[in-house]
Amino acid sequence: MLDKVKELIGEVNDFKATTKEELEAFRIKYMGKKGILNDLFAEFKNVANDQKKEFGQALNTFKNATEGKVNELRASLEESNLNASSLNDLTRPAEPISLGSRHPISIVKNQIIDVFSRIGFTVSEGPEIEDDWHNFTALNLPEYHPARDMQDTFFIEQNPDILLRTHTSSVQTRYMENNEPPIRTLSPGRVFRNEDISARAHCIFHQVEGLYIDTDVSFADLKQTLLYFTQEMFGKSKIRLRPSYFPFTEPSAEVDIYWGLETETDYKITKGTGWLEIMGCGMVDPNVLKNANIDPTKYSGYAFGMGIERIAMLLYQIPDIRMFYENDVRFLEQFKSIN
Ligand code: DAH
Repeated sequence: MLDKVKELIGEVNDFKATTKEELEAFRIKYMGKKGILNDLFAEFKNVANDQKKEFGQALNTFKNATEGKVNELRASLEESNLNASSLNDLTRPAEPISLGSRHPISIVKNQIIDVFSRIGFTVSEGPEIEDDWHNFTALNLPEYHPARDMQDTFFIEQNPDILLRTHTSSVQTRYMENNEPPIRTLSPGRVFRNEDISARAHCIFHQVEGLYIDTDVSFADLKQTLLYFTQEMFGKSKIRLRPSYFPFTEPSAEVDIYWGLETETDYKITKGTGWLEIMGCGMVDPNVLKNANIDPTKYSGYAFGMGIERIAMLLYQIPDIRMFYENDVRFLEQFKSIN
């Protein structure tokens, strides 16, 4: 009797199943209602008293071995089943690749480039680390000029000054140094100011600069180009030019677009006026042309500059400029549908 149980334990330990059906047959054979285990437990009462202890222990070992085997085979069959089914089904869709989205600043920058490239503007770039000449002096902002106060920045070296550029206007002179008129170029890029960070201002932001130089360029050309831009970019067709001051343009103006006063948001973003300021512009000052070796008696031109964050905040109703730089996926994901 005892030998038989020991033999059965060996049998159970050696058992292998390659299908669920084989395993089920095994389970029924040993653990079923009329299975071997139950039979043996029934035999227990017939075992001689002095053998009961040893027989009982062997029986328990046998029971545990059988249960353990069934569990082990069940788990391994399930796993291989999974693998087999995923390998066999060649029509199964591939693992989804999670796509990112463009950053709203890139979206708006690309839209601006797109609008101006349709009327012949090319894209040019300049360095973010700039010298004093290109960022200030060549733009009619000599060292003593009070307008420098509005554009404090981070200095890398002093005397001579090397700094983080405060505006993309620095690309104007660089571009004119290397290219003959006619010039139609758009210079997007990152700029820096020594400013306190708040919901509306940051020490790093982005601008797009426009520069157009040719013979006989007039203020009317500037105005018409800006009107074209606001129509294409915002779908708005009313603009106004408010006299302003920039050292590198003469005359200079701020460009406002008529946003309207139809919704509550319109009221909020235009402070109840309907008008929104979107950029600065003007006719390139003759001194700026001279500084880049372009003859101001032969050529004239216009320039403009706008902040990308400002426009993105307007278009997408983004309440806080800091959101652009935090890279919170919950923010970025919302731009998935826009290219
Ligand atoms: N550079 C100016 C700024 O950062 C923006 C600007 C105004 C650019 C007028 C221009 C311009 O080219 O003509 O505030």
